[in-house]
Amino acid sequence: MTAHPATTPATAAACRIARIGILTGGGDAPGLNAVIRSVVLAAGRLGWECHGIRDGFNGLLAPETCAGEPVRRLSEEDVHAIGHLGGTILGSTNRGSPLRYPTSQPDGSLRETDRTQEVVQRCRERGLDALVVVGGDGSMGIAEALHRKGLKVVGVPKTIDNDLAHTFSTFGFDSAVGFATECIDRLHTTAYSQHRVMVVEVMGRYAGWIALHAGIAGGAHAILVPEIPYRVEAVADAVRRRAAAGHHHAVVVVAEGAAPAAGARRVKSAAEVGRAERLGGIGAEIEAALAEATGKECRTVVLGHLLRGGSPSAFDRVCASRFGAAAVRALAGGHAGVMVALGWNTIELVPLSDVAGRTKQVPVDGDTVATARELGICLGD
Ligand code: F6P
Repeated sequence: MTAHPATTPATAAACRIARIGILTGGGDAPGLNAVIRSVVLAAGRLGWECHGIRDGFNGLLAPETCAGEPVRRLSEEDVHAIGHLGGTILGSTNRGSPLRYPTSQPDGSLRETDRTQEVVQRCRERGLDALVVVGGDGSMGIAEALHRKGLKVVGVPKTIDNDLAHTFSTFGFDSAVGFATECIDRLHTTAYSQHRVMVVEVMGRYAGWIALHAGIAGGAHAILVPEIPYRVEAVADAVRRRAAAGHHHAVVVVAEGAAPAAGARRVKSAAEVGRAERLGGIGAEIEAALAEATGKECRTVVLGHLLRGGSPSAFDRVCASRFGAAAVRALAGGHAGVMVALGWNTIELVPLSDVAGRTKQVPVDGDTVATARELGICLGD
């Protein structure tokens, strides 16, 4: 379903909305502020108030923990000139999902409880007629549960990982790929000068979108993604073939979720880190294995959270602005329980139930992977 029909104050009046809330959940991504700005401005045009909720759902469930006023009205002035800024003025967290909220028990232990009904209640108490939830797959799952409990909710897909289902892209992805590409460009010259193998580890969770796109854009010689189990020997062969042809340096881009064909993925369990499992560290393993297999000097650069920081690219600013305006348009048009999604030059409305609990991985038989192979890039298989 597309989300285009233009909304006027007259058509919006029929949806009985006067005040909406907006929150940003999960890991931050460049473009969050552009969404907030867009929602506030588009809602204001319809005569609606927009209230910002701090630190994900904590502004409603744990206001005492919030870094600022837990819920406050956002004026046009509040969102003036924030569209180009990274991060989120509302704060965010990837702890404390209302679906599994850690609650202290009388014996001192923690138990996870479903507090989504309380979120609905808090929204009603504050006179919020609808909620815009900006987040990744976890936030879309929460939004879906809130919708089922009777709250009007529209989701806006955010993540640098680009792993949300049913949207061509998420905002944040283009900025992350742009920065990773710039880093790879820089690493080429030092790798060349020192005759080294540079291993670049990038985020992306269980999807290889960032690694694949930045690797192709940056002219990497090998790219390892979670979707294609790798063998170090295949990468070592590629490095040796380059050396035999007179090229004594190489750049290897590794997604944090890449996994060897034989062996386990590098992941810290939820028990170790106290929340959802945490990826990272594969770059150092590849560096050691390649050094041993090729005898070459290798170095690792972990781009990590640098990919999440900084200003959104122009593409992400436009994407985020379109998503924010479309979320308001959807509510004004009487839609709820949907996520705005990027189609081919359209914004679509996708049922949250189709998105919750799903992720989107790089298609191994898609043309981008084929392109990488045709460019002679080693994919580790
Ligand atoms: O989902 C975005 C993301 O940046 C992933 O790429 C990464 O695995 C994760 O968040 C890191 O989360 P945290 O900031 O909690 O370590």
